[in-house]
Amino acid sequence: MTQPSFSEVLKNSTWSDHESAEGDGYLKALMAGRLSREAYGEMVAQHYFAYVALDAASRALADDPVAAPFVFPELYREEALARDLETIYGADWADRIEPSLPTRTLVARINQVASWPGGYVAHHYTRYLGDLSGGQFIRMALEKIYGYGPGGGVDFYRFDAVGSLPRFKQEYRARLDALPVDEAEKRRIIRETKLAYQLNTEVLGDLGRIARAEVAA
Ligand code: HEM
Repeated sequence: MTQPSFSEVLKNSTWSDHESAEGDGYLKALMAGRLSREAYGEMVAQHYFAYVALDAASRALADDPVAAPFVFPELYREEALARDLETIYGADWADRIEPSLPTRTLVARINQVASWPGGYVAHHYTRYLGDLSGGQFIRMALEKIYGYGPGGGVDFYRFDAVGSLPRFKQEYRARLDALPVDEAEKRRIIRETKLAYQLNTEVLGDLGRIARAEVAA
């Protein structure tokens, strides 16, 4: 029997972590159209802080042989998130957002892995492959619910500069399969991916308190 590729092993070893992230109450309420624009904005704000850190890690590792294949300037999200926040909250958006405690924990971990290429790959995979996959369903739902179009609102989920998303994801998985690291490092990357899911799920869990308040109101 042929050995499964690393991209398959990574997905299979972390899919149960994906299910807990997906099953979160905030996302359920959001996707069911039960949250106000401001309450949706709370997640966009938390994404903003996480992606500023993640994209800074990409820049810091652009010349590293392990990380460089996962540095894609066309994926950088800071500008798209700023447009989304301006659409949701207005010109003074920057004064109206702050990182939650779980977001600060996630950002601290991303900053740490900016000096560990394998750890960076784990966080990059968890966020970006998700945004390019399930994120596209989330975008379509939010466009219907809030009436957002291109130019702000859900631009975070738009990757116009990437071209065909299935082709890009195929290439991304090929790069995971070609990672120049040994088996022990691959196991560490899988462990860090599970941690990345957990930290991201805690951010969503914290947002759940907003969903509960809104749904109860
Ligand atoms: C409503 C919420 C979500 C839905 C409906 C959803 C749905 C999906 C679906 C259908 C796929 C498979 C796509 C494919 O095989 O090409 C996928 C992949 C993925 N999702 Fe999600 N997702 C959600 C939330 C999340 C969250 C919160 C994260 C991370 C924090 C995440 C991370 C990922 C990753 C990394 C993959 C790629 C797995 C791989 O192919 O290796 N997803 N998602």
